[in-house]
Amino acid sequence: MSDIVKRFTSKKGNEVLFRYPKVTDFADMFSFACDIGSEDTFIALDTPPTENEEHDFFEAVIREVNERESIYLMVYVQGAFAGNGRVNRGKGRHRHVGNIGLSLRSAFRGEGIGTELMKSLIDEARVLGLRLLTLTCFETNAPALHMYEKLGFRKAGVTPGAIAFKGQYIGEVHFYLPLVND
Ligand SMILES: CC(C)(COP(=O)(O)OP(=O)(O)OC[C@H]1O[C@@H](n2cnc3c(N)ncnc32)[C@H](O)[C@@H]1OP(=O)(O)O)[C@@H](O)C(=O)NCCC(=O)NCCS
Repeated sequence: MSDIVKRFTSKKGNEVLFRYPKVTDFADMFSFACDIGSEDTFIALDTPPTENEEHDFFEAVIREVNERESIYLMVYVQGAFAGNGRVNRGKGRHRHVGNIGLSLRSAFRGEGIGTELMKSLIDEARVLGLRLLTLTCFETNAPALHMYEKLGFRKAGVTPGAIAFKGQYIGEVHFYLPLVND
């Protein structure tokens, strides 16, 4: 497994790098998790984690990546940590299925990085031998819904009221992408 997965120039002319994590990335990860948790945006994390919680999470990420149980890509823009994307492999009867999640710092959204990150996660999932990708999305997250449909994800359905977000109960959209034809 190569450490660096992709380098490219974003739509705004920024140099972007995707790579697998190293144990020395903890400070970047923790700072990002605190900022995105405080932002209260379209992700499951709705408050900043404690340092211990993030430590346990990051330790599990490094272990699962080494054991090829997860894909985890760190995003750097002009050398600054800008976000991450992951694919978690299922267990048992779901071992052929990967669940995707990604988020970027607000300053680095809207310049094509999320789309490239999704493409890299899909490529890495194929390398891992996964057959199917799934993800869920808040029904009010217009840029993300657009991005997933643009990349060929199909909508399986919506669970109404599944997510408590900013004082309302909103729908959770379920997407899937088959990686094999049969
Ligand atoms: C979702 C996210 C990862 C997307 O990454 P990004 O780098 O901002 O996305 P991109 O710039 O590659 O693409 C966004 C697409 O949405 C489109 N878009 C932007 N605002 C939109 C809107 N209000 N309605 C519809 N489409 C919109 C853009 O035009 C672009 O499409 P295009 O490539 O066809 O022009 C990023 O915005 C993010 O981290 N958001 C917060 C966390 C989050 O929502 N994570 C996903 C959870 S499901």
